[in-house]
Amino acid sequence: MTVVMGIETSCDETGVGFVQDGVLLGDALASSMAEHARFGGVVPEIAARAHVQAMVPTVQAALLDAGITLADVGAVAVTAGPGLATALHVGVAAAKAYALALGVPLYGVHHLAGHAAADTLEHGPLPARSVGLIVSGGHTSLLSVRDLVRTPIVHLSDTVDDAAGEAFDKVARLIGLPYPGGPSIDRAAKEGDRDAIRFPRPFTGPHDPPLGFSFSGLKTAVARHVEAHPDVNAEDVAASFQEAVADVLTAKALRACRDEDVETLVIVGGVAANSRIRELAAERCAAAGVDLRIPPMRLCTDNGAMIAAIGDLLVRDGATPSDPGFSAVPTVE
Ligand code: KG4
Ligand code: ZN
Repeated sequence: MTVVMGIETSCDETGVGFVQDGVLLGDALASSMAEHARFGGVVPEIAARAHVQAMVPTVQAALLDAGITLADVGAVAVTAGPGLATALHVGVAAAKAYALALGVPLYGVHHLAGHAAADTLEHGPLPARSVGLIVSGGHTSLLSVRDLVRTPIVHLSDTVDDAAGEAFDKVARLIGLPYPGGPSIDRAAKEGDRDAIRFPRPFTGPHDPPLGFSFSGLKTAVARHVEAHPDVNAEDVAASFQEAVADVLTAKALRACRDEDVETLVIVGGVAANSRIRELAAERCAAAGVDLRIPPMRLCTDNGAMIAAIGDLLVRDGATPSDPGFSAVPTVE
């Protein structure tokens, strides 16, 4: 059985993982998150430079974690897109170099297929049809997921403005919580009252797209509330904002399951680490008879294991490797 090496550099995480026949052998992760903190968001040039610095040490750490050597690697998979162009190029260049030096096939893969494949490392193969909710700093989409290998992922809906993670990051900034905002708000919300403020549930009106997302209006509503109530308790704002996001995301994900007539919902991406989203999704899926699959937190955020996981599915399916001259595709759908 082939050992597949996965390389992920679409944003600020340098991830490397090794998967063989659906089993994660080991992985390692480096992050430039701290270097972006003072800018309030990821700076592509800084991320790219950090990937160059971290790439080889992260490969070495992942090899050590897996207890293998490079000579054991039989294929290389790398995120081709979507993502930050300069960041993606570093991973693609490194993957080409490893594949060429080892004389093994190379697969450029879709970042979102990687996120969905991450769950298979924990819960086994996905059913023939499922709905994916991908919620991260860059994406908020509902996806129709089939076999991950032969049928491309179909977008059922996307956000028309900010991604959910972006909204967490911006709202955290508004109420003085540190970047990245998601984990900060999640922590603060535990001390707050989620019913303290009734923030709007965006895009839930009768004339709004039933599966569509929008978060910039919610962020503005939080900003207005904080302006009008300077003494407001930040924990209550965090909990009430988080409740609005969790309510909209889970309601729409279940609506997509109904529309698509599927019985499995997979939630992936950094925001899937959110404790209230996990809790509300579990409650609503149980009530609707939908099987909920969320990978463990370390597989929810960007990582190399998920790219190795989709690479492993491709290898086992006998897929054709990518042309060695392929380029990163930052804006791929
Ligand atoms: O998937 P990811 O690691 O990277 C992207 O592809 O964007 O997601 C990062 C995003 C950030 O916006 C971060 O604030 C958010 O995921 N995040 C969370 C939590 N942990 C990370 N959002 C809400 N609650 C969390 N616990
Ligand atoms: Zn991601």
